[in-house]
Amino acid sequence: MILRGDPAGPLAVPAALSGGSMRVWRVWVVPVALLFAIWGCTSPITLVGSVEPAAVAPPALPPAPVPAPAPVPGLGPGAARPHWARNDIPVSPRARRINCDRIRCVALTFDDGPGAYTESLLDILAGYRARATFFVIGRMAFGDGENTLRRMVTEGHELGNHTWDHPQLPLLSQTAIREELGRTQWLVKQATGVTMILMRPPYGLTDPRVAAESRQLGLAQILWDVDTLDWRDHDPSVVARRAIGAGPGSIVLMHDIHRSTVQAVPRVLDDFAARGYRFVTLSELYGGRPAPGRKYYSSR
Ligand code: NI
Repeated sequence: MILRGDPAGPLAVPAALSGGSMRVWRVWVVPVALLFAIWGCTSPITLVGSVEPAAVAPPALPPAPVPAPAPVPGLGPGAARPHWARNDIPVSPRARRINCDRIRCVALTFDDGPGAYTESLLDILAGYRARATFFVIGRMAFGDGENTLRRMVTEGHELGNHTWDHPQLPLLSQTAIREELGRTQWLVKQATGVTMILMRPPYGLTDPRVAAESRQLGLAQILWDVDTLDWRDHDPSVVARRAIGAGPGSIVLMHDIHRSTVQAVPRVLDDFAARGYRFVTLSELYGGRPAPGRKYYSSR
């Protein structure tokens, strides 16, 4: 093909388009260029190299409900009396009359057991004639732990319900909340003869449904006003210092599953005893039965 002008030029026109043909070409070039311009604006090709619009985030969904733990066959409310249930119910010492409005009282509470160090803790408490409250996990108590529960009762400590499996209760269905509390309530009754009147929601997480189920089971919701953070800081002196910061009527949160916590307890007992404190159970702190379903942080 013969080309006029610069053969490499972008505007080179074929010789066949010269003369009359060239005029026709000029007539068409403008509308065709316009068409290309319009097509170019609307075609997806114009998006190449441009910034894609940000994807719209889907709306936040509530957390998925946690399925209830699988029930243990033959274990729980309504089950037949198990073969291991004991007839020799442990006997509590006579109730003490302590007026915590007039004298200094502190309620030491221990959660998540019974565990490997709980018996040592009971030895220490017995040495000081101190009573405490244990919020027990059913799964921890089931089996060998039941003897530890019986010892607690015999030595005047109070037992509280800390669920069967330590879940975040507000994430559970109403039925699962009832099972978590009901199964531990049942186990402690079978093992010790005690009907607990206290519960502590794991992580301190509660809501109106948890309150309703607690009320239904006759359980007051016991929180705390002094947190030793002993699950995080495994240093007896740190744990003791935080516990000692409690005042009259305080509820102190600790965990008997940590060796460092148990090691901190003699220092805590010495310090409070030197300041004239009595170590009382929750029921003693409230001078009777705390109201089922209601939340308690301290008696102050
Ligand atoms: Ni706990």
